[in-house]
Amino acid sequence: MSADLDKIELCVFDAYGTLYDFNSAVARHRPAIGAKADALTEMWRNKQIQYTWLRNSMDAYAPFWQVTGEALDHCLAAHGIATANVREKLLSAYLALDPFPEVPAALGKLKQAGKRLAILSNGNPEMLDPMVKASGLADRFEAVLSVDVARVFKPDARVYRLVEARLGVRPENVCFLSSNCWDAHGAAHFGFRTVWVNRASAPDDGLPGKIVAQITDLSRLPSLLGVS
Ligand code: LAC
Repeated sequence: MSADLDKIELCVFDAYGTLYDFNSAVARHRPAIGAKADALTEMWRNKQIQYTWLRNSMDAYAPFWQVTGEALDHCLAAHGIATANVREKLLSAYLALDPFPEVPAALGKLKQAGKRLAILSNGNPEMLDPMVKASGLADRFEAVLSVDVARVFKPDARVYRLVEARLGVRPENVCFLSSNCWDAHGAAHFGFRTVWVNRASAPDDGLPGKIVAQITDLSRLPSLLGVS
């Protein structure tokens, strides 16, 4: 185990892309969307995140649900997709995204070993809570924290501060996990011990914040934290 990770009390997970597969929304409706499905899902995610950064810069917070819908509207227009009810279908799928396959077992192992587990997400509670419940994983987490109370998105430090304020754990005793490299850098820069879940085996971003370790999925996390 890395010395940086030997005092971890609490694991805090990003939600979308880290625990839950946002591609599963479009995948479920692939026949209705057709050949543009892959391009749509990639653009939708990129726009959604871009909009959060832009809204942070504009001091114009809006719930992630709204931002997700506005990003989708842009992407459907950009791809000329006008299939009936596709907007409603994709957004309702977003309330029940699939967890990545290794997630239930990895969380189970950590919890059994006495690690505390929580989520910290851009999602607002009205979208996070149904998704966590639908996945059957609600009992793994002692808290599902949302940026909504801070009315600003990641990687603003006010978001990462919610963890100590709500759960009373110092940043150096928190292992933060995100598949989003920019979020991992933001969290590391803030002071969390941060592991990048590099699902796409992407190159690192040139951003501040020292990432402690990289894993390709969460099955490696228990051993990284000394849990067998
Ligand atoms: C989240 C996004 C950034 O869950 O994935 O916060």
